[in-house]
Amino acid sequence: MRWTLFEPTPACMRRRTIPDSRFLCDAMAVAASPLDARVLDLCTGTGVLGIQAALLGAREVLAYDINPRAVACVADNARRLGVEVDARCGTLTDALAERPFDLVVSNPPYVPSPTRPEGVGIHRAWDAGDDGRVVLDPLCDAVSDLLTPDGTMLIVHSEFSGVAETVRRLTAAGAVADVAARRRIAFGPVMHSRAAWLEASGKLAPGRRSEELVVVRARRA
Ligand SMILES: C[S@@+](CC[C@H](N)C(=O)[O-])C[C@H]1O[C@@H](n2cnc3c(N)ncnc32)[C@H](O)[C@@H]1O
Repeated sequence: MRWTLFEPTPACMRRRTIPDSRFLCDAMAVAASPLDARVLDLCTGTGVLGIQAALLGAREVLAYDINPRAVACVADNARRLGVEVDARCGTLTDALAERPFDLVVSNPPYVPSPTRPEGVGIHRAWDAGDDGRVVLDPLCDAVSDLLTPDGTMLIVHSEFSGVAETVRRLTAAGAVADVAARRRIAFGPVMHSRAAWLEASGKLAPGRRSEELVVVRARRA
């Protein structure tokens, strides 16, 4: 199975899944049941969230990613685990054409980056523009369009991409939103590489090398 962004690793899902996806998998089990649900995994990467939803009894899982390598990886992982995940190359726009969903899960790119991300490459897995919200904002704005009336959206991201802004945007878009779970983690390699820039731009206290991850939950109001 390939659980470390597109790298072929034989390791098991729990051990290898990247920490934010593992956190969202844990939250999914308690904050929203995928049982019998029509599920969207947007920004699917290795597919771990969509596959977890399928393993927990989802009726149908659609998974989108801009990176064709990710899409191939999801299909491969799903086949090996014996679950059905419809993995496609695409973005929010493509997902909206397939609405509505009972459950939307997303671990989008959310790391603040000095430049706006362009092209298709591994950097698109984390780089998300100056405020870390290039993918988050349109996703929040689309909450009411994506979800069935009883549907739930779960998004994981870092405090450095604005938790209050996520809740505010979801609310403005017609949802009831709250922070379903919080977890503090040590910086991984990407945040370490970004730390000097974050400190220089005043977004990170000097010397601090940990961040809080949140799972934000939204339901249609
Ligand atoms: C943080 S990674 C996803 C991690 C995934 N949950 C996992 O554990 O493997 C973000 C993914 O979003 C994809 N991506 C970036 N921008 C996107 C966009 N606008 N629409 C769809 N996918 C996007 C990247 O290619 C990357 O695979």
